Amino acid sequence: MITLNTDNSTISEVDFSSKTNLLDEYLKKIEARDLGFYKLHEDKETLKKVQEFADQNRNKYDHFIVLGIGGSSLGTICLQQSLTHLFKAPKLFVLDNIDPTMLSQIEDVIDYSKTLFIIVTKSGGTPETLSQYYYFREKVPQENFVFITDPEKGILREIANKENIPAFEIPENVGGRFSVLTPVGLLPAALLGLNIADLLQGVEEAWNNKELAFKLATTQYLLSKEGKNITVMMPYSQRLIRLADWYSQLLAESIGKNENTGITPVKALGVTDQHSQLQLYNEGPKDKLLIFIEVSDLGPTLQIPENPISYLKGVSFNKLMQTELEATRQSLTKNGRPNITIKLPAVSEKTLGALFLHLELSVAFLGEFYGIDAFNQPGVELSKNLTKEMLS
Ligand code: PA5
Repeated sequence: MITLNTDNSTISEVDFSSKTNLLDEYLKKIEARDLGFYKLHEDKETLKKVQEFADQNRNKYDHFIVLGIGGSSLGTICLQQSLTHLFKAPKLFVLDNIDPTMLSQIEDVIDYSKTLFIIVTKSGGTPETLSQYYYFREKVPQENFVFITDPEKGILREIANKENIPAFEIPENVGGRFSVLTPVGLLPAALLGLNIADLLQGVEEAWNNKELAFKLATTQYLLSKEGKNITVMMPYSQRLIRLADWYSQLLAESIGKNENTGITPVKALGVTDQHSQLQLYNEGPKDKLLIFIEVSDLGPTLQIPENPISYLKGVSFNKLMQTELEATRQSLTKNGRPNITIKLPAVSEKTLGALFLHLELSVAFLGEFYGIDAFNQPGVELSKNLTKEMLS
C-alpha cells in the first residue's frame, strides 16, 4: 500500500488535521462534476478489448509508435520508463513533438511495414498530432494504424468511421491529462506486455484510500497560502523520473488558472539532483514544498565492492540510495523547508496505477479548494488561435 508521510516539523505547522473532516464535502464537489477519471477501474469491457487487441498485435510488429501530445503522451512515456527495461532498445517510441528532425529520423530505426502507429488525441483535432498523422499516413500501410480518441467527436473519429480503422474510446467525461488509465495509457502498456489489470487494481486501491490525496492537496493548498507556491517532485528511483513530467502537466494545467491561483511544478530526481538543485532547496527562497517519492524495494541488492572509503564498507547501492534520501530529507527539515514523502513498496503496475489516481485526485481536491475548474485549460487557446491566424 502507498503511504504519505507528512510527519516532520516543517509540516506539523500546517494545520490540516482540522480539515480532514471536510473530505466528504469536497469529494461531493468533485463528484458533482460527473467526471470519469476515478471510475476507470470499473470498466471491465474496455480492459478486455484493449487486452485482446494487444494480444493479437504484440508480436505482429517490431515497433509501436505513439503520436500524441500532452495528456495523450506523458502517461505512456511514464509507464514505459517505469515498467520496462531501462536500457534495452525500446519497442515503443512516443513522438510528442513536431520537430522535423525527430519525425524524419525515426525512419532510420523503424521499418514502416513492421510498425504499428497509435494515434492518440482526445479532441481529435490537435494540429500537432493530426499533421504527424498525415505525414505518416503517406508512408505507412493503412492496416498499421489504430486510433484512440473521443467516442463521437473530432476529425480522427470521422476518419476511423469512414476508413474502418480500429479506434478505441476515451470516455467523453475524461480529459486529456486525466486519461492515462483509459486506452490512452492502457493500450501502449498492454502492447509492451505490461499487466494492465494490475494497473486498474491499483486505481481501485487508491480510490479506497482517498485520505492520501486529500492530505496531499490540503498540505499543498495551505502552504501555497503562505507563499510556498512551488511543488518539487523528487522521486528516488530512476524508473520514476518521467512521473514528475506527467505530474507537472497535471498540476500546471489544472491549477494555474488566474493570477492568484497556481502551483509551479518542478521536476527533480534523487540522488542525481542532490548535485544540481539541492543547494537551492536548502538555502534558497522558502517558497517550495518538496514531495519525495520513496520506493522501499529498489530492485536486486547490489553490493558496493571492497573499497578504501570506510563508511561505504559493506554497504549496498540500495542502502546508499535510501540513506541519501533520508539525509536529504533531514537536511531540509533542519533548514525549515517543507517536505513530505509518498512511499511505495515497489515500482509495479499496481503501485503506479494507484499513484496516478492519488495524484489526479489530489489535483481535483486542490481545484475545489481554490474554487476553480481544474479540468479545463482556456489559457492555451490564445497561442493556438494566434498560430492559426499566422498560418492562415
Ligand atoms: O489535458 C489536456 O486536455 C491537454 O493538455 C491535452 O492533453 C493536449 O492538449 C492534447 O490534446 P488532445 O488529446 O485532444 O490531442
